[in-house]
Amino acid sequence: MTEVVVPAVRQETILVVGGAGYIGSHMVKMLLDQGFRVVTLDNLATGHRQSVLGGDFVQGDVGDPLLLERLFTGYAFAGVMHFASHIQVGESVTDPAKYYRNNVSNTFVLLDAMRKYVVRHFIFSSSAAVYGEPLVVPITESHPKNPINPYGRSKWIIEEVLADYDLAYGLRSVCFRYFNAAGADPGGAIGECHTPETHLIPLVLMAASGRLPQVKLFGEDYDTPDGTCIRDYVHVNDLCQAHLLALERLLQGGGSAAYNLGNGGGFSVREVMAAAERVTGRKIPVVVAPRRAGDPARLVADASLAHRELGWRPQFSELEQIIRHAWQWEQKLAGVISEFGNKVR
Ligand code: UFG
Repeated sequence: MTEVVVPAVRQETILVVGGAGYIGSHMVKMLLDQGFRVVTLDNLATGHRQSVLGGDFVQGDVGDPLLLERLFTGYAFAGVMHFASHIQVGESVTDPAKYYRNNVSNTFVLLDAMRKYVVRHFIFSSSAAVYGEPLVVPITESHPKNPINPYGRSKWIIEEVLADYDLAYGLRSVCFRYFNAAGADPGGAIGECHTPETHLIPLVLMAASGRLPQVKLFGEDYDTPDGTCIRDYVHVNDLCQAHLLALERLLQGGGSAAYNLGNGGGFSVREVMAAAERVTGRKIPVVVAPRRAGDPARLVADASLAHRELGWRPQFSELEQIIRHAWQWEQKLAGVISEFGNKVR
């Protein structure tokens, strides 16, 4: 007989903004599994309704003050998690207004609603992009913040705003600087599905499944052992686990903080490709291309602060395990492409 684990029912309702997106949808699932009540707000510009596995769903824009007014009067939120942002570094350079409008201005609308309705706990998805070109690796939270593109700046602006809001309004926040989010729900229910996809692991796996003819390798003349860029890949469920720990801490009266989230180990693009070949048992067609603008050679997190202060212990820190979960999802996606319509490519 299999043991059925019934989560404790929590009284708290959490608003997850961007809960239909990649990381947000995994967060919604984890909160529900923990017994929280969850409300997802997502405009479905890039998210997928079918990725939201439960709770209440509201389709709409986080920058719509009237909608937020209705939401905040309709629910007594104990906390807000904000995942909704544009994430393409290159696009942020060519269309910065899009990034500042959504990632910055719209966040102000959300923060205004939180102030008005006295919701004091906020968890914000920031990025390693706030550091810019690293001066030293691994990167600690005190590393200078020199974002080199509007995407990174949009995240750093909100982090600075949140520090001011803490002092002035008592709004307690935790900012998480994600390194390279990857992987998928271990049970295979949800996973990553961006359009266009720009991230290495899903692209490599799309080439493995045949959805792409090949994957480009952007530059093999970096100052790294095999000449390709090194990144710190962290499992999406481990990211969500950190959010859960931060939420509990905020709900218990903890103060504001910012944490790196990564595994502290770096893998080169070539190493990722080799690991993907082992996991999938398939040869992955690769073409070497010139460097992509704005890619630092190495980005590796020192996440010891999150370990110490939050008790964060990544469960899926092995690269092959991360890729295995992503592969399980890619195979499902390749099979149900029609369900996601033309949003997949
Ligand atoms: N890469 C390839 N081919 C591809 C895609 C990526 O070789 O088709 C390489 C990139 O050049 C880079 C590495 O794989 O060296 C990882 O690239 P990703 O696009 O997967 O991830 P990034 O490191 O560029 O981006 C991550 C986050 C961003 C964040 C950034 C901070 O996904 O949100 O780190 O610099 F802004």
